[in-house]
Amino acid sequence: MTRVALITSGGDCQGLNAAMRGIGKALYNRISDLEIFGMYDGYRGLIDGDYKFMEPKDFSGILTEGGTILGTSRQRYIPGKDIVDEEGNSLIPVMKDTYNRLNLDCLVIMGGNGTQKSAKLLMDAGMNVVTLPKTIDNDIWGTDVTFGFQSAVDIATNVIDYIHSTASSHSRVFLVELMGRDAGWLTLNAGIGSGADIILIPEIPYDINKVTEAIERRRKMGSAFSILAVAEGAKSIDDQVLSEEESRRRREESKHSTISYEIADHIEKTLGREARVTIPGHYQRGGPPCPYDRVLATRFGTAAAELIVNRNYGRMVAMQNGEIVSIPLEEAASKTKFLPPDHPLIQVARDIGISFGD
Ligand code: F6P
Repeated sequence: MTRVALITSGGDCQGLNAAMRGIGKALYNRISDLEIFGMYDGYRGLIDGDYKFMEPKDFSGILTEGGTILGTSRQRYIPGKDIVDEEGNSLIPVMKDTYNRLNLDCLVIMGGNGTQKSAKLLMDAGMNVVTLPKTIDNDIWGTDVTFGFQSAVDIATNVIDYIHSTASSHSRVFLVELMGRDAGWLTLNAGIGSGADIILIPEIPYDINKVTEAIERRRKMGSAFSILAVAEGAKSIDDQVLSEEESRRRREESKHSTISYEIADHIEKTLGREARVTIPGHYQRGGPPCPYDRVLATRFGTAAAELIVNRNYGRMVAMQNGEIVSIPLEEAASKTKFLPPDHPLIQVARDIGISFGD
């Protein structure tokens, strides 16, 4: 008997159900003596022993469904050390108890950056783990792409497409703030895909004077409106030196709730131009996966099943140069995949006159 538990952890994204469908269908096709447990709400299900048996029929009809049919949650994670409850008590022994009680062979964990790191802690504690890379941020080390990313790019691009006509009609400056606390992959791709004029991302600190200069340059050349694609984690050159804690405090003390409102205020005051902010927020993570993500999540799902069939644990499935591969989990969990400032796509943007405010 092979016993496998599925876990979707951290922020949701498009393609989680498609990935589970890929895993479940491939496992049921290949293993006759099999039990699949679906743990509810991410690690919470493993902590509380809250799960459902997933039969073959549970994996039908979910390919196009957004979110996760199992639910998800975030746990407190102490970097590289522990997963803890509100009082700071380690939850790893509790999770291991459930793992042993259910006689599991493997946990299949679908998650973003933080989840890859916490999954490694479970592996270190002696549990067999296979992970899949999911996040709209595309910032997981060791894979060219994560599922959810392309769906979010499509949505964010569409938002900026729609903003174009109203920005043009009113000759306004618009800032569209996109998700990406640490990495600018989504903003860069959506910005290029939608014809944004200025792209601000965490990896390239901006000079606010260069931003206003770029807007003025466009006006002088006859473009009365400008569109800025701004990652939520974009930082000015002055703020790049701040620690995470200092940045958080600075935002709390500021009268502007997000970076885009702060930049918009500056533009209005210095250029005397009307500036508006649009924040699609979690809309970017919602709804059905785009066809690319359905295929990618299915490929990752069947690759995870292959690892389980071969009892090849402690690995994350990944895409490298168009091929589906797997890499050691400790490598995937070792760092964040930031957008390199010399990435070819950044040069493409510069070549067509997009400003990064640097
Ligand atoms: O999924 C990643 C991400 O979208 C980040 O870009 C964003 O900052 C974060 O999740 C917000 O998620 P939540 O509101 O669920 O904490």
